[in-house]
Amino acid sequence: MKIIMLGAPGAGKGTQAKMISDKYNIPHISTGDIFRANIKEGTELGKKAKTYMDAGALVPDELVVDLVVDRVAKDDCANGYVLDGFPRTIPQAKALDEALAKNGVKIDFAIDVEVPDENIINRMSGRRACVECGATYHIKYAPTKVENVCDRCGNELILRDDDKPETVKKRLDVYHEQTQPLIDYYNEAGILAEVDGTKDMMDVFGDITELLK
Ligand code: AP5
Repeated sequence: MKIIMLGAPGAGKGTQAKMISDKYNIPHISTGDIFRANIKEGTELGKKAKTYMDAGALVPDELVVDLVVDRVAKDDCANGYVLDGFPRTIPQAKALDEALAKNGVKIDFAIDVEVPDENIINRMSGRRACVECGATYHIKYAPTKVENVCDRCGNELILRDDDKPETVKKRLDVYHEQTQPLIDYYNEAGILAEVDGTKDMMDVFGDITELLK
């Protein structure tokens, strides 16, 4: 099963993608996590990506597309994958479709997690992330057992630089301009599924698993 997660920043794409990955035993591929790991390791890609990410802008398509196309060609993706944060522009979506078509493969579902902008800023300021293992929490909706310590790996949690309210506003503008058109793109392709992301996390996941049946 090949799945794309769509939705505004903070809509819960990552939260749902991790649950889908665990349930269906397919890799969770998050371009945001890949960039953050590169920033942490101080790679050239990380240095380039950081300037865009800190400004709430998108990393240029040419830095993203090959990375994802190579990743989905790996053996562990043979039975499917869940893409989280990619594609984010129409050129990225077209590049992915073209690369997959060379192997006669298609995306099965594009799941749009819908959350209005007014809910997003509140969610983002409460998010805490583990840069070590990529786990995500929320101080109110998904708290850790010990405050500010990752349940999964024991590392200290951070508020992402791009989760500050002024950057979140910019990310929402970028989302509406460049990423939202993908909803029409996948609707026309007949693979769009929409879920109400304002529900409780487990209810959203229940709706998604119904769709995937
Ligand atoms: P990325 O890391 O992909 O960020 P994003 O898309 O903005 O999404 P987020 O990770 O912020 O949110 P999410 O929807 O995954 O929500 P989450 O599950 O964490 O990208 C970061 C940056 O990298 C981009 O701005 C860009 O610069 C660059 N980039 C990445 N990919 C790129 C690409 N393809 N092209 C170009 N540039 C790219 O949930 C949010 C919070 O809410 C959490 O605290 C969570 O616990 C909580 N929550 C989740 N669900 C619920 C719920 N149902 N109820 C209550 N709380 C909930």
